[in-house]
Amino acid sequence: MSDNRTLTTRQGHPVRDNQSMRTVGERGPATLENYQFLEKITHFDRERIPERVVHARGAGAHGWFEAYGKIGDEPASKYTRARVLTETGVKTPMFVRFSTVAGAKESPETERDPRGFAVKFKTLEGNWDLVGNNLKIFFIRDAIKFPDMIHAFKPDPVTNRQEPWRFYDFIAAHPESIHMVTWLKSPWGIPANYREMEGSGVNTYKLVNAQGEAVLCKFHWQPKQGVRNLTSQQASEIQGKDVGHATRDLYDNITAGNFPEWEFCVQIMPDGPNDDLSFDPLDDTKRWPEDQYPLLPVGRMVLDRVPDNFFAEVEQSAFGTGVLVDGIDFSDDKMLQGRTLSYSDTQRYRVGPNYLQLPINAPQVGCPFATNQRDGQMAYYVDRGGESKHVNYEPSYLGQGLKEAEHRAQEYRQFIEGHLGRYKPTRVSDDYAQAGERYRTFQDWERDDLVNNLIGDLKQCPEALALRMVWHFWNADEDYGRRVAEGVGIDLEKAKALAPLPGQPAPGENRAGPTYTD
Ligand code: HEM
Repeated sequence: MSDNRTLTTRQGHPVRDNQSMRTVGERGPATLENYQFLEKITHFDRERIPERVVHARGAGAHGWFEAYGKIGDEPASKYTRARVLTETGVKTPMFVRFSTVAGAKESPETERDPRGFAVKFKTLEGNWDLVGNNLKIFFIRDAIKFPDMIHAFKPDPVTNRQEPWRFYDFIAAHPESIHMVTWLKSPWGIPANYREMEGSGVNTYKLVNAQGEAVLCKFHWQPKQGVRNLTSQQASEIQGKDVGHATRDLYDNITAGNFPEWEFCVQIMPDGPNDDLSFDPLDDTKRWPEDQYPLLPVGRMVLDRVPDNFFAEVEQSAFGTGVLVDGIDFSDDKMLQGRTLSYSDTQRYRVGPNYLQLPINAPQVGCPFATNQRDGQMAYYVDRGGESKHVNYEPSYLGQGLKEAEHRAQEYRQFIEGHLGRYKPTRVSDDYAQAGERYRTFQDWERDDLVNNLIGDLKQCPEALALRMVWHFWNADEDYGRRVAEGVGIDLEKAKALAPLPGQPAPGENRAGPTYTD
């Protein structure tokens, strides 16, 4: 008799000897009919799936979200009809995965890198994924550049090392990235752990209310634990002892009942081009100034449960920017638009075409879901098709099978017209302003660490690159450029004399008008 501790094969056959293969005689050979051995070894051969092409190293936790029902001092329903944000007294189950970006699956968690902050709200109206980072901005503002950027940041295809010159070679050609680099090379590039860091959706979304009216918005997570970052020196001391310190910190705190908590906030701006601003609100290399667009609290998230199994939950979890609920919509942010294809595309490859059937990715039990999607690798259940098991199409003249949902009173409809083309942004003059402002508002120890880190990197780069990087930093803030130049040992006057980048206006100058290149 088997009980629930008896080892079996996947077919349910008790395993009476797990120590020896079946062989002809004591010294072999082995036989091919040895099903128990074949099942075990062939499954083992397939234990790995491809790691995420970015954000491969991660840790996850379960928790819940609770809305305040307000956005700042106003009812949340003024801005959105998403029930997850308007209804109070509901604990929406959540799963969160934190990560680093460029390193491989078992790389050190002390690396200088943005930290991923991917959140899955399992709402009663379906899933909502907010796939964010700890820093509130990004390196680039057009999705077509992402593969080039990641190639430059990942190991060199020849040496298989992350080479500083490849990173700066890409950065030097992209003035819009200097703001992000200023954050990243400061202590903010190495959060002390996953609990003591902020999160941000980074890209611009829309909130839509019951009247079908939209506002632009940004989402942010503010940790109740506070923010703590590390200098390079502190990080290397930790790395010498533990390459998984952030995973351990998250696991240890949650299992000890010290549940991390974040306040969920939004920034709101009227929809439209907002031409009076010096930056484009759809440009994710810029922050929305918080004195003009304050962070308005909308709810809180608590993480209170560690995964039962790392692979089933953390590794197979799949987040995507396309996964929105009614009342939250896409803006025309070009990064958001590009990202939205990329996530589900890679997940169909990485996990498989039925990745959404896995419990970690499927909607919560209380949320009814039913599709006419069928079959494919690893399909393990069939959605209920109404009263008929035969009708897996829609509509049915006989009125069987699944039916379309009722329309909401006011659908949100965006009016769009324009010439199809590949455009360069017109409001580029401010690519340095926020970087300079950040440099000036860092505390002294943060600014010193930033400058030292840049000096250390640029000393390993060809002089032409170091000169151009100093030119960028000098355009952001003269003291910034001067200190880096002195530390690297290059001539500041030579850097200042460089011409603007080919095809780019001089810093401080706007492009004359819309430029579309083909
Ligand atoms: C993961 C693409 C920009 C945050 C990924 C993955 C891809 C990807 C393919 C792997 C997903 C998987 O295997 O499940 C892109 C593209 C981008 C972009 C094409 C730009 C056009 C960003 C930005 C952010 C971000 C701006 C921050 C707001 C993340 C996070 C993950 C991730 C947090 C890990 C999700 C997880 O924990 O499973 N991205 N990404 N990405 N990306 Fe992006």
